[in-house]
Formats: sequence, structure tokens, C-alpha cells
Amino acid sequence: MAHDPSKEGLLNAHSANDGYRRSFDNAAHDSGSDLDATDYLERDAAPNKRTPDAREKWSVRRPFAGRTRRWAQALYIGVALFVVILAATAFGYKKYQQEPPYGQSPPWYPTPRGGTAGTWAKSYEKAAKMVSKMTLAEKVNVTTGTGWQMGLAVGTNAPAVHVGFPQLQLQDGPLGIRFADNITAFPAGITVGATWNRQLMYARGKAHAIEARQKGVNVLLGPCVGPLGRMPAGGRNWEGFGADPYLQGIAGAETVKGIQSEGIMATIKHFVANEQEHFRQPWEWGLPHAVSSNIDDRTLHELYAWPFGDAVKAGVASVMCSYNQLNNSYACGNSKLLNGILKDELGFQGFVMSDWLAQRSGVGTALAGLDMTMPGDGLRWANGESLWGPQLTRSILNGSVPLERLNDMVTRIVAAWYQLGQDDEKKFPRQPPNFSSWTNERLGLPSEGSPSPQEKVEVNKFVDVRANHSVIAREVAAEGTVLLKNEDLLPLSRKGLPDAKLKMRRDNIRRATGQVRSGKFRVGIFGDDAGEGKGPNHCKDRACNQGTLGSGWGSGAVEFPYLMTPIQALREEFDLTKVELHDFLTDKPPHGTAADAGLADLELCIVFANADSGEGFAQWDNNQGDRADLKLQKGGDSLIESVASRCGSGVSDVVVVIHAVGPVLMEKWIDLPNVKAVLLAHLPGQESGHALTDILFGDINPSGHLPFTIGQSLEDYGPGAKIMYLPNAVVPQQDFKEGLYIDYRHFDKNDIEPRFPFGFGLSYTTFNISRIHVSPKKTKSPLPAPRPSPVASPPSYPTTIPPASEALFPAGFRALKKYIYPYLDSVDDMVSDPYPYPEGYHTTQPLSGAGGDEGGNPDLWAVYVTVAVEVANTGPVAGAVVPQLYLSYPEQEGEGGVDFPVRVLRGFDKVYLKPGEKQTVEFEVTRRDLSYWDVGRQNWVMVVEGEYRFGVGESSRHVAVEGRW
Ligand code: BGC
Repeated sequence: MAHDPSKEGLLNAHSANDGYRRSFDNAAHDSGSDLDATDYLERDAAPNKRTPDAREKWSVRRPFAGRTRRWAQALYIGVALFVVILAATAFGYKKYQQEPPYGQSPPWYPTPRGGTAGTWAKSYEKAAKMVSKMTLAEKVNVTTGTGWQMGLAVGTNAPAVHVGFPQLQLQDGPLGIRFADNITAFPAGITVGATWNRQLMYARGKAHAIEARQKGVNVLLGPCVGPLGRMPAGGRNWEGFGADPYLQGIAGAETVKGIQSEGIMATIKHFVANEQEHFRQPWEWGLPHAVSSNIDDRTLHELYAWPFGDAVKAGVASVMCSYNQLNNSYACGNSKLLNGILKDELGFQGFVMSDWLAQRSGVGTALAGLDMTMPGDGLRWANGESLWGPQLTRSILNGSVPLERLNDMVTRIVAAWYQLGQDDEKKFPRQPPNFSSWTNERLGLPSEGSPSPQEKVEVNKFVDVRANHSVIAREVAAEGTVLLKNEDLLPLSRKGLPDAKLKMRRDNIRRATGQVRSGKFRVGIFGDDAGEGKGPNHCKDRACNQGTLGSGWGSGAVEFPYLMTPIQALREEFDLTKVELHDFLTDKPPHGTAADAGLADLELCIVFANADSGEGFAQWDNNQGDRADLKLQKGGDSLIESVASRCGSGVSDVVVVIHAVGPVLMEKWIDLPNVKAVLLAHLPGQESGHALTDILFGDINPSGHLPFTIGQSLEDYGPGAKIMYLPNAVVPQQDFKEGLYIDYRHFDKNDIEPRFPFGFGLSYTTFNISRIHVSPKKTKSPLPAPRPSPVASPPSYPTTIPPASEALFPAGFRALKKYIYPYLDSVDDMVSDPYPYPEGYHTTQPLSGAGGDEGGNPDLWAVYVTVAVEVANTGPVAGAVVPQLYLSYPEQEGEGGVDFPVRVLRGFDKVYLKPGEKQTVEFEVTRRDLSYWDVGRQNWVMVVEGEYRFGVGESSRHVAVEGRW
């Protein structure tokens, strides 16, 4: 029920200087803009020293760098003037204007309370008992971070001491334990996506969580399924699993299950549409507001929110809302997104946590469904002034945030803790982490971010938690390597080439150069990306591209415990009694003749090149988080071309190995006749070199497949695929006008030939897919079964506002400066005007027909049809095939027909087969898989007229067999 503050007798008052109250759901009301650049710069002057990595992260990036800066500043001033002049005249015409199709976020209140799903019922019962005993201050503690660097992890809330609820330790990130020693640097999400291997997705999550638990972490800030990959140059695409919602959904859910099988709470992030780094958050780019991703309802459901649905269904404990605005309302204060879609429709039972400083209003975000604010500081970095903390306390006392809402926030967090079994003190001793994010020394301050005097304590215990996780890291890296081209060259022999091939090559060289070669096989290794460079941890947060590329940069990166470089592994693996290795570990293309360059005698050249990107707080070269383009970096194209033309005087074979955060353009060299083999190894993590030699020498048969399309140009991906590098308004507006048509959906719709299609990947063997069999399990019907009634009832608590005494600083309390406490100095300044709730706050919303349980209406997850195919290994060696199921919706003719992509991924599997072996693979297709989001009916709708087509093949452009239903 909506809370009506005017009916509250007690302390129904406002604080006179309560600035955060002005902010509601809508960005237009948001108080983010009352910061100016000077305010923001102050955080750089904060006296926190020893943490260059961490602090750099939050230091002001040069507001607008390079060309962006000049243009954006001019634009900013220009647009501001323009807006002021036009505002008055525009106002009068407003009512005649048509509503734009994008950029509107309707209100959805109040927040659905957690505790309705059977799967969480026991945890909610336990939580209710605990929460009912908490004081107001304790409840606020649980919801609010204690401030940046106030604990040892990147995020910590505060405990509810008297009832035994501990402080939670939250740590990045999706590929390992950030800022920690003796951990595993796993391959990044994009590499995991490229494995198309569910078991490995799960295993990596599980190993990651074992390390988290042993390091004293409660909540992992991963996996990442947003960005989805709308823009191939998007800076953080590599943290996720690929440019398709189905693949992201499965990989995200398997990772969540793996993580949570160890009792660690997983956080699925970033909800939603943080598709580019430019303008992702206020002030980081000099603008007062974040970009608004403007997305229509259907696209939001079918693409961007889809993988989050899988994670909720998998029982994820936490969802992190993103920095950007969605339809002009900050994601962490967007009631339609959090209350409507996430909590009502998807039935999310855990808690919503803000990205770090993504909370832009106090009461507004509470009402919109945020449950935990991180790191606790509010509009400005590390100043100790929270939008919640004492302000949340005050807003409960004065009635502006309904007590019921606070109770729900806390219950969701405590229930998640019980749900994951973290009340087991043996598994989760109530201790701080045994490492510090802020120093590598043994001794450090417990609250590094506070200038108050503190005693140093032991903060780093250097516990080695790696066990044998390098094995999983290596397997993922190898299986995530995609063989894109292979003209009878790979696998190599450790002796160089098998004898017959070697003879042929030498004959070629003799014919071309007149030189007769004998003796050892001569291999040249080219490129800085093959080597160690200045070491894997040379740059803060990995924000530079030097040495071999093992991960992207930002909060999603870790300190490498080691990085097995390609050159090291090649040196170990080649038989050096037969092979001579020549290193050219530079990106400088060889000049002059082949002989001048020392390349004339080479019989094989392996060239390494790469492309890097990362989080928007850091910049490398001209890549400001997002890549500046899709080219290979550091002159990779020229290096490859130059080596190819000189290797063995242009007749020896060339293998190209790419490490990259996403698609790169290959047009300059992919068709060169002696570029015989190309491997895309994505971001392989610490086991890079080993995984590569596993593939090169055929110990592992490549089975990676592309988790995105490789186009022939950026233009091929469509206009929506371009990063907005220059703001188009003070609040940059990014209209996702292409709707459903991103990546392969765009290529298919527009009949554009990709260089390599989504899902593509070669093997050293061949497969055959045949005998499709479609078995209906249920009858088609347009709508899912009616929404079921909740299995359980959310806990209810007394609604009397607690006494103000619960909110005051306890006598004699020694407060650390800048540390966020829940307490107030006084309650004398409460005022009693009625609280101006957001528009739509008192309108009761109809419950979604798509909802009803964790993950939504259970009927959406019911299997309606299965599709079976036979897969066979028809080649000479064992290997794993990845059959992929693509669904095409029944065609809808005429006006009013629904527009559908040519095909969408709706199933995949990975099957290991010996030569000659066959196996049947069955795909289960659910109602959700078969439905589209009907905006009018506000539900998932199955098409009952016409026939669904199911194509199964080895990529999105390869249909081996087709069945119908
Ligand atoms: C990132 C999150 C991360 C958080 C904490 C933010 O900048 O966007 O992904 O979890 O920092 O480090």
C-alpha cells in the first residue's frame, strides 16, 4: 500500500535543509546538478594516500579529454544558453507536442515487498524474526555503505550488532577477487561466453566463489550481463558474455549458480543499458547528468532486461543498478525499472544495490526500489555525506520514507544472507576480509578513508586461496579461443611442422628465393602482445595496453598473480632441438626487404596483435573507456601486413593471434594468401600462454565460437552501434532506435555479409548435424497461464514510527570523520509539511501478468517444445561441437503484423565426440523463448498462427537442419 504521510501523526515533519528530498524518480528532479566541478575536484584532495589504484579510480577524470573536451565544453555552454532561451517559448507549445516514442519512464509505486516466493520463504521467516528486533539505526546500517575506503573491501555496510547481523563485505568483480593477493585471474566474461560451455561457466563461478569465501568476502560484484554489447566498441562489453541476450542469460545464470553454490551472494550487474562508458555518470565526463539510454518497452524486455531475468530465475541474491539513466530517470531511482520490472514482473526476492555513486537521490531512490546504497557516500565521492545513512533515519522519523519500505529493504538483505547460508559462522566467520583493497602491506588502517587517527592493524594476511583453479582458468581460456581461419596449417607440431608439410614449405621457399634451407625450423614470434612487456600489473587497474593482453581495465580487472605469456609458453612447448625461435616482441612493423629485416629465412611467423578497452574512469591512448574504433591497436594491422609480406620472403605461413575485448576489423589482412591461420583468444587471464599452446599444438581441439559478429566495418553494425563520443545535449540522449536489431539481428535484417558470423568457430575436425526432430510438449496459446497467487506472504511489522531516541548518537560515541553512521545529532529540526511524493505515487499499479514467482510467471519457464538433432564427428580427431538452435517466428503478413528478427538464438550445447562418434542433443524451448513482449497486452505472447522454424547449425549463418512447429 502507498504510504500517506499526512495520516502519520508522529514526527511527520521535514528537515529544513534536507536537500536530498527534492529528488524523485525522474531525473528532471534530481539533485545531482547541485554539484559543481569544484565540489567534485575536492575529492582528489582527500587525504587518502596509499592507494593510487583505488583512488585513481575515483579521481576526476579530466572532465572531457581531448577532442571530446573541447567540443563538449562548447556544446555544453551553447546548449545551456539555447535551452534557457527556448524553455519559455517551448513551454507554451508543449501540450500540442506529440509524446516522443522514447525517453519516458512511467511511475510504478509502491515497491513490491520481498517474501512472496516459495524458494525464499524459509529465509524470509528467519529474516523477519531478526529484523523485527532491530532498532531504527540498525536497519539503516544494513542498507547503507559506511563510505569509500571505510572497510577493507570496496564496499561494506554496517552491522546490526544486537541481533547478530554482521557487516557484509562486497568485492569486485566478474573475473576474480579485485585488489587481492594470491587469487586467480580467470579469463574475462567474453572469453567465457566464447566457450559456449555451460559446465565451464558454472565451474568458473564456483571456483571464483571459493576464493571469495576464503578471502572473507560475502558478496561478489559479478557476473556482468550489461552492457549487452549494442555497441561493439563499448568499453565494458568484455566483462559480459557476448552480444546476445540468450547467451548472456545462460552464462550469467550458470555463473550465478556456480558462485552461489558456495554460499557467496552473486550480484548481477549493471541493470540496465550502461551500454557505453562515455557519459555513463554525472561529472565524470564534465556533464552534470548521465546519459539517458532511451529504450522502448519491447526492446527492453527482449534484449536488455532478458539476461537479468535468467539471473533472477537462478536465485541471484543481488542486482546492481547502473549509473546511466533509463528513459530519463536514473536507473537506481527508476521506479518502473526496479519496482515494476524487477520486483513485480520478475519477482526478484533479493536486494537492489547501487553501483558506486549511482544513487542520485535519497527518498526518490528508496521509493523507487533501491535497497542498499554503495559505497555509502552520496552525490560526491568520499565526502561522508550520504543520501541515506542519517538522512534515511531522518526520513523515517519524519514520515517521508514509509517505514514499511525500510523494513522491506532490510528484510531483503537479511533474507539473502540467510538464503545463502551465511549465518553459518563456521563457513562465514564474522571477520573483516583477510586482505585490504587499499594497501599491499601487512599492516594498515581499518578505515583508510577516514582522516581520524587510528591504529594500524594487520589487514593483509596473504592467504593463498588459489587451490588448483588455474586448471579451470586454462580450460576456459582454451575453450574460449576461436579458430577463425585455418588453411591446412594448424595444429602445429612441436617440431615445427610435420615432415611432409615442412618439405613442401621448404620447396616453396627455394622456388621463391633460391635459398635452400635445412636444419632447424625457424619460427618468428612478433608483437608486444606475445610478451611480458613491463609486467601484467604495470598500470593501475590494468588501464594500459602493453605486454600481452589478459584482461580489459577497470573495476572488472584484478592484480595478476602471474601471467603466462605466449612467448614463455611457446619457448617451453616447442622442441628447441628442432626449432629455432626468433623473437620480435615489438609492434614496430619490420621495414626494408625481408633480408634486411631478418625475416627472409623464417619458415613460420606467429604475429600477435590486440585491442583493449575498459571502464570509463580511465583512459589509455585515445580510448576513453570505450574504444575509439574497432581497429587493432598499436598498429596491429601494419604489423601483420608487414610480417606477412616478409615472412620467408612472403611465402612462409603466418598465424595471427588476436587478444581482444570484442570484435576487431580484419579486412586489411584476413585474405592475404599466406595468413593461413587466425586465432581469436579474447581475454584469457593468467593462463594465456598455456591455453594458446594447448590449441596451437592440438592438445585441445579448438571449440570456441564467436559471442558476437565480426563485421567488415563499424558501419556494418548499423547506426545504433556507434558510441556517442560527443554529447548531443546537457543530458545526452541516446535513442536505441534500432530496437531489437543489434549484432547479428541487424546483419540478418539488412542482409549484410559479416566477415565472421555470430556463433562461428572452426575445429580441427568436422561435424555433421542431422535428423532434426521437433516434439511439442504443450499446446500453443497466446498468453501464459494466469499469474499465480504468491506462495508466501511478505513479513509484516508494526508500522509505528520508532522513537527518536533510536536515532540519536549514543552518549560518548567516538565517530570517525567521514564514516557514515545512521545517527543524527538532533531531531529538533523536523518540520511537518506533507511530503511531495512523486507523480503517480498514489496510483495503484496492476500486477503484471508476466509475474507471479521468482523469475516471473512460472509458465514462461515451462518447456513447450523440444528440438532434437543428431551430432556426429566426421573428421579425423576428437573434438567438441557447439550445435546452436536459432528460432524464427511465424511470419506475420500485412498491417499490424509483428516485426520479428530473422532468427534469434534459443539454445546451444557443447558435446565432445570422438572421431566417428554420434550423439543426440535435445534443446528445451520454453514459452519465454517462443514469445515476444507485447506492449499493448503488457505480457509475453506466443504466436499461435503459422509455424515456428527451428534451425540448428554451427553458427547463426549456418543452418544444417530445420524443423517446424
Ligand atoms: C563499477 C562497478 C563496480 C563498482 C565497485 C563501479 O565503478 O561500475 O561495476 O562493481 O565500481 O568497484
